[in-house]
Amino acid sequence: MKTLAPIGMILAACAVSSAAVRATDLSPDLGRAAHQLAETTCANCHGVSGRSTSPTFPNLAAQTVPYLQAQLHAFRDQTRGDPDALSYMWGMASQLSDATIEAISTYYAAQAPSRAKTGDAKLMARGKQIFEEGVTSQGIPACATCHGPQARGNNIFPRLAGQHADYLVKQALVIQSALRAAPIMHDVIKDLSKDQMRAVATYLESLSP
Ligand code: HEC
Ligand code: HEC
Repeated sequence: MKTLAPIGMILAACAVSSAAVRATDLSPDLGRAAHQLAETTCANCHGVSGRSTSPTFPNLAAQTVPYLQAQLHAFRDQTRGDPDALSYMWGMASQLSDATIEAISTYYAAQAPSRAKTGDAKLMARGKQIFEEGVTSQGIPACATCHGPQARGNNIFPRLAGQHADYLVKQALVIQSALRAAPIMHDVIKDLSKDQMRAVATYLESLSP
């Protein structure tokens, strides 16, 4: 468990983004407006209540509030810059105020997570091992250390359980290439091969809520 200290430091450094946004802090009007925006606009791509049906569009349901907020800020600041982020999310996020970002993140975090999808048994077993133990020979730490034992996420560490496998593989590639600025993850997965990532993603998509 020697990796716990650095994570504590990371969390401390991120105290600003994690400065608790609780549903109760938000005015009922803002909460209602965010709900409406989610179901009239965002739902066209991210699905009803953030449970999407296409791997191009990530599930947002049950994602953590600080992570959702950080991503919407990254789209607005244009630091998350792969072609899909640019063409779908930059314009969308440019319209959102800080308060709306808080409110809509709170809304999605409270939705029931998407259903799991079972994949190839061999891939899932290989992925589970990488997720839980890392790959010592390549210096890759266990994903579970940050993303949680069931991949349900915590604070700035996103939920990965039940997420579309194709989406997860694509994010790993854009984080490796630094098209998406994510310094912590970049160091973790810079040496992970595409086959290894496919295995982890298949395992993650199969994890039930
Ligand atoms: C026209 C389609 C479209 C609409 C409408 C849309 N999105 Fe997205 N969104 C995307 C795509 C595509 C991605 C993945 C981008 C990538 O691959 O980097 C994404 C990614 C995201 C992410 C990052 C999720 C993660 O796991 O990292 C968040 C958060 C998000 N969108 C929130 C919203 C919100 C809130 C709205 C409504 C205000 C919205 N989106 C509307 C297409 C859309
Ligand atoms: C030291 C902590 C840490 C470890 C270990 C870690 N991650 Fe992450 N991961 C993060 C953080 C922080 C983010 C959010 C990056 C951001 O804000 O853009 C993230 C984001 C991700 C994303 C993007 C999710 C999305 O919705 O777009 C994927 C995929 C991912 N991690 C996979 C993995 C895999 C696979 C492993 C194990 C090989 C792993 N992570 C290990 C900290 C970690």
